[in-house]
Amino acid sequence: MRIAVFASGNGSNFQAIAEAIASKQVDATICFLFCDNPKAYAIDRAKKIGIPYTVFSPKNYDSRVAYETELLEQLEKKEVDLVVLAGYMRIIGPTLLTAYANRILNIHPSLLPCFPGKSSIRDAFEANEKKTGVTVHFIDEGVDTGPIIAQEEVAILSEDTLDSLEAKIHQVEHRLFPQVIQELIENKTIKKSE
Ligand code: GAR
Repeated sequence: MRIAVFASGNGSNFQAIAEAIASKQVDATICFLFCDNPKAYAIDRAKKIGIPYTVFSPKNYDSRVAYETELLEQLEKKEVDLVVLAGYMRIIGPTLLTAYANRILNIHPSLLPCFPGKSSIRDAFEANEKKTGVTVHFIDEGVDTGPIIAQEEVAILSEDTLDSLEAKIHQVEHRLFPQVIQELIENKTIKKSE
């Protein structure tokens, strides 16, 4: 299975997937990391691990269609089967969605449909929820919507701080995301590129 990982920031999920591949827990190859942000720490991680990366910003394109057409060309050139959004903070438009229907996965730090958006861990914490969690789902045209593949709960304990909750959630993400990717590969749910 040939994977491209999209990230906008820290890239810890990207690294977790790369490590799971290196230790043969996931039977795949990361063709490249794509970043929409030249300052993303994910790029430093790619350099350290030795995974090719591509970086360009939508700001340099006239439209989302033009930006995504460039991305699609890269995906097709590298014969990518599956796109993995790991902290990629943009909505995917119809250009990529149509070409990669049911082949774009996202991870989100809440029990969707609760707390979509960019500050989900904080939102759940400040809402005094007793639990939150992690969701892996296929994407559609919405923000953090689309068919859910797996969810795992994380308890919010009275002694938790926002930092400790974030740490617990990331720990679950780093285990769950590679696990779900491998399950999809084994179940042959993802149709390979032709
Ligand atoms: C992760 O917690 C991921 O679930 C979240 O961004 C973080 C990226 O961390 N994604 C979203 O909120 C998507 N709406 P990372 O860059 O260290 O992998």
